[in-house]
Amino acid sequence: MSSQQKALVVETKLGPHVLKNVDVPKPGADEVLVRIEATALNPADWKILYIGMLVDKFPTTLGFDAAGVVVEVGEGVKDYAVGDKVIAQGWYDPVDHSMHGTFQQFMAFPVDSVVKMSSNLSFEEAATIPSGLATAVFPVYNQAEGAPSAKLIAPWEEGGLGKYANKPIFILGGSSSIGQFMIQLARLSGFAPIITTASLHNSDLLKSFGATHVIDRTLSPETVAQQAREIAGGLIDLVYDAISVTDTLAAGYQATSPQGDFVVVLPEPIPGADANSQKKVHLAHGLFHTPINRASGKNLLAKLPELLEKGDIKPNRYELLPGGLRGVDAGLLRLRNNQVSAVKLVVRPQDTSA
Ligand SMILES: NC(=O)c1ccc[n+]([C@@H]2O[C@H](COP(=O)([O-])OP(=O)(O)OC[C@H]3O[C@@H](n4cnc5c(N)ncnc54)[C@H](OP(=O)(O)O)[C@@H]3O)[C@@H](O)[C@H]2O)c1
Repeated sequence: MSSQQKALVVETKLGPHVLKNVDVPKPGADEVLVRIEATALNPADWKILYIGMLVDKFPTTLGFDAAGVVVEVGEGVKDYAVGDKVIAQGWYDPVDHSMHGTFQQFMAFPVDSVVKMSSNLSFEEAATIPSGLATAVFPVYNQAEGAPSAKLIAPWEEGGLGKYANKPIFILGGSSSIGQFMIQLARLSGFAPIITTASLHNSDLLKSFGATHVIDRTLSPETVAQQAREIAGGLIDLVYDAISVTDTLAAGYQATSPQGDFVVVLPEPIPGADANSQKKVHLAHGLFHTPINRASGKNLLAKLPELLEKGDIKPNRYELLPGGLRGVDAGLLRLRNNQVSAVKLVVRPQDTSA
């Protein structure tokens, strides 16, 4: 194996991406070195690159979602071996504002951010999963003390499957990556009705995941909230806003019951929010490696291969971008311009030409 690899490097805040030859890292004691066969693009990548969000340590490499093959294991690693196909998540460290990203051909991952792939998935499908799924799971099911979470019992935990039968849930942005996973989790948890918003051309897809009602996302926030309440038969105890822009926040907040849980994915002000309200607002944090998520993440990862194998959780649809890592920038522009609908953009780093 060559000691050098290609990586998309961001040398300074606000970029640009530079394709460079860099060293292949050595895995630490609790890490596995993965040859990345597919990596998916996320909105956070363009926000870090184009508006300077979150990351302050440079040079760095972006990218959160990957799938590939283990090529070396650290000395303390027991559960993985060379040749294992794995799904893995890059991470951002909120303490030192550093990024550890997947837009490269090889990466060392801590084992808390890795899970074996089920045999029914392609690398591209597998790479669509980590961040969307984690961002749905943690703010709803993480039971850790102090976690920003509704603290429900997850469907893979004792007594969790179907536990919330006949309770309504409202998921704004059902066709986003996070929204697609949240609909599937809601189905496993037994929620009914499962109400979501999207462009109506995505209705059949979302119903195939378990949504029972799809509201046109172009309606006014007041109308969206009113329709959701009518379908649910009243205000709703669990509302997940997978988009968290002004209109969705307004609609989601209005539809949440007085002591209900309202999950948001961005730290934006909520129009009409009442400081004296007892509604519980939880800001999602979708990284497995962050300490508050580790125990919950470990439980999920222990069950994830089986959930994927059985089709209980399905990956996002994907679109493969040409050019390997050279395809990332064009994809990030499409994400920034809202030109991506119900599909995850994926590249194959090993296809990057010299
Ligand atoms: N807090 C965290 O830890 C965390 C983690 C991951 C992501 N995020 C954030 O979560 C957001 C979603 O991420 P993602 O990767 O799931 O997004 P994504 O898949 O790229 O979202 C694309 C989808 O958003 C839908 N959409 C756009 N505006 C909408 C609106 N006003 N109402 C309903 N749907 C709308 C579109 O639906 P249609 O095509 O049906 O119109 C499209 O299918 C991003 O802002 C991201 O930065 C936060």
